[in-house]
Amino acid sequence: MSPTGTEDDVAAIAKRWKNKRGSLIMALHGLQDRYGYVPREAAMSLGEQMDVPLARIYEVLTFYNYFRLKSPGKHVVSVCMGTACYLKGAPQLLSRASEELGIKPGETTADGEFHLQVVRCVGCCGLAPVVTVNAKLLAKVTGESLEAHLLTPTTAEDGKA
Ligand code: FES
Repeated sequence: MSPTGTEDDVAAIAKRWKNKRGSLIMALHGLQDRYGYVPREAAMSLGEQMDVPLARIYEVLTFYNYFRLKSPGKHVVSVCMGTACYLKGAPQLLSRASEELGIKPGETTADGEFHLQVVRCVGCCGLAPVVTVNAKLLAKVTGESLEAHLLTPTTAEDGKA
């Protein structure tokens, strides 16, 4: 699994919220912010790391309509709008992605190929501005490099290679 892949992300979220009051729902928000939905593999890993039974996790996930259990699009494009990325041009990248895909943040293209979303800091501020396409992290993104990745996106599986 790549250093930017699922395990590292889930471990960071679990570490942040483990043993804190009301933490499970916040951790699940963290997963959805990161992936655009809550992948089963990530939910299982989170449960192990936070010592929460998987049944309890799905109880929460299915109780709240907010949580998505399936990917909202084949390619989830997440533009980091945390402070470091914001200062290094994330708003312009978001506009560019929005323009290229013809959708606003939070929307999915009509063909289901792309879902565009805004995320908070993904923990790689030194690589700002950062965009992720599925599990692949793009560092020091420019308008041109973003456009190139949108034209040839990798699948979630590719991104984990
Ligand atoms: S602000 Fe974007 S990775 Fe930290």
